[in-house]
Amino acid sequence: MHSVKIAPSILSADFAKLGKEVQAVDEAGADYIHIDVMDGHFVPNLTFGPPVIQAIRSYTAKPFDVHLMINPAVQYIKDYAEAGADIITVHVEADIHLHRSVQVIHDLGKKAGVSLNPSTDENVLRNVLDDIDLILVMSVNPGFGGQSFIPSQLGKINRIREMIGDRSIELMVDGGINPGNIANVVKAGANAIVAGSAVFTGGDYVASIKSLRDAAN
Ligand code: DX5
Ligand code: ZN
Repeated sequence: MHSVKIAPSILSADFAKLGKEVQAVDEAGADYIHIDVMDGHFVPNLTFGPPVIQAIRSYTAKPFDVHLMINPAVQYIKDYAEAGADIITVHVEADIHLHRSVQVIHDLGKKAGVSLNPSTDENVLRNVLDDIDLILVMSVNPGFGGQSFIPSQLGKINRIREMIGDRSIELMVDGGINPGNIANVVKAGANAIVAGSAVFTGGDYVASIKSLRDAAN
């Protein structure tokens, strides 16, 4: 089994120096830069739009993994693609026509991810499994960094891993992951991990990414 990918969420970064923060986690060994886009409607918080993503694009060559917590999402996908997203993830709860959103992402030449809230059943994925590049399981209710991991999601991660079979879909988990629980998440079947507070709290990004990796293996 190859090593787990770590995607620091810049929701927990210092927004006053966002470009430098992106550069710092890149140099500390991040595989992806996870960017949480919130609209104050789908989730009770508001974050970045395309101009902010465009402004930080030149600070790293690592893939931008853009997590859209917006409803509707489909008509904004192009703006995020043009701003520099490499992976665009939409929530199954956000748009009625999930398959169309996936098509729009692929037509723009980007990788398509699909995310599930903690209360959402994984069977909604069955009819898009052959069309997507990434599944993002939310292990907290989306909206904020620093929340506690919801243990019931471990069973769901496991069932999704089985459902994926031999397809080359990444299984990413987001929310409340730290060195104390990352091994369980990986054991359940995740091969990519989002971490906000676990990476940015403390200020030593090399050490925090290393302790996640060490604990994962
Ligand atoms: C929550 C976001 C997460 C969040 C994770 O809505 O999708 O990406 O930033 O933060 P931590 O790792 O602190 O739970
Ligand atoms: Zn996220």
